[in-house]
Amino acid sequence: MKLFDVYPLNDITIVKGQGSYVWDDNGEKYLDFYGGHAVISIGHTHPYYVKSIEEQLHNIGFYSNSIQIPIQKQLAEKLGEVSGKNGYQLFLCNSGAEANENALKLASFHTGRKKIVAFEKAFHGRTSLAVAATDNKGIVAPVNETENIVFLPFNDIDALDAYFFENGNDIAGVIVEGIQGVGGINVASVEFLQAIRALCDKYSAVYIADSVQCGYGRSGKFFSHDYAGVNADIYSMAKGMGNGFPIGGIAIAPHIHPKHGMLGTTFGGNHLACAAALAVLEIVEKDALLENALTVGEYLKQELASIPELKNVRGIGLMIGFDVDGELATLKKQLLNKYKIFTGEAKPNVIRLLPALNITKEEVDVLIAAIKSEVMALKNKTVAV
Ligand SMILES: Cc1ncc(COP(=O)(O)O)c(C=O)c1O
Repeated sequence: MKLFDVYPLNDITIVKGQGSYVWDDNGEKYLDFYGGHAVISIGHTHPYYVKSIEEQLHNIGFYSNSIQIPIQKQLAEKLGEVSGKNGYQLFLCNSGAEANENALKLASFHTGRKKIVAFEKAFHGRTSLAVAATDNKGIVAPVNETENIVFLPFNDIDALDAYFFENGNDIAGVIVEGIQGVGGINVASVEFLQAIRALCDKYSAVYIADSVQCGYGRSGKFFSHDYAGVNADIYSMAKGMGNGFPIGGIAIAPHIHPKHGMLGTTFGGNHLACAAALAVLEIVEKDALLENALTVGEYLKQELASIPELKNVRGIGLMIGFDVDGELATLKKQLLNKYKIFTGEAKPNVIRLLPALNITKEEVDVLIAAIKSEVMALKNKTVAV
């Protein structure tokens, strides 16, 4: 059998990782400023994380959600503590799309309504409703198309106000990333998130904070939406939650009540995934990784902003993007091939940086030196041509 060829791949085989470094099968060492799509939160193969999963595996790896699984409760408690959302309820699943799918369903169950407001350039995943709420027609299959989702301009309070004024009583929920990731690192303004909160309150709709990429401490706050100083009704999360072990979840406000059978999953919340996620939270707390994300992120942003050729440096904490135009179009590729540094991208011309939350200033310096050197080389090449 062949693999179903859906991914454009770099011809690199990573066989080992440690902290913010990975190694290929030729022993070549790479600095990781991408964390495999923002997934690596506490660094590769963190010893405490490895030990926790290993120990759990020796006891029991999986049993279904038909028995007591105390480690789920431990995880929920720790998540409440570290995120500050103490009164919230946790539903566990396996991925970001699944988290959003459940969040959207729950908003509809809770309100008895069908309409969902999403925003231009949003990415919420590839399952049925999540992909319908994703602003990319290229990945929406005909069967996923629905008139229940409306896309409004991002950060446009007037448009939101007007839509609620006309349709408020039909709206089940509003789903919004605190910082759009796939869309190119676009930060939701404080006023915009506050307006979403106020309108959802006024019309009894559900505010869903998609924190799959921007959450879990990446912004320096546990949920980047928290910068607005208002709570969402549901926070979806995944990526950094298991540091590569597949796990997702939604944190649900106390006024939304569960009913047996309302949501469910076979694998979600299994013992192994919970052990991984619990270890992540313990390390995030013990090593003060939110603080590190903020201080090192600020340093990284400042250093990037001091390179005039990089346009529009933006983001919060360790979720940073900048535009590379014209002569710098190949910068990302060169950073990987020549300097052995992984970075991410957002089409058409954004470089996205999403390193582990314990990345150091010294590692930032390595990236900055490489960018400066390559920017110079690319400019000289253009001049020579
Ligand atoms: C904001 C956001 N939501 C949801 C998802 C989907 O997550 P997953 O790929 O785990 O299904 C992603 C993935 O990139 C994302 O960035």
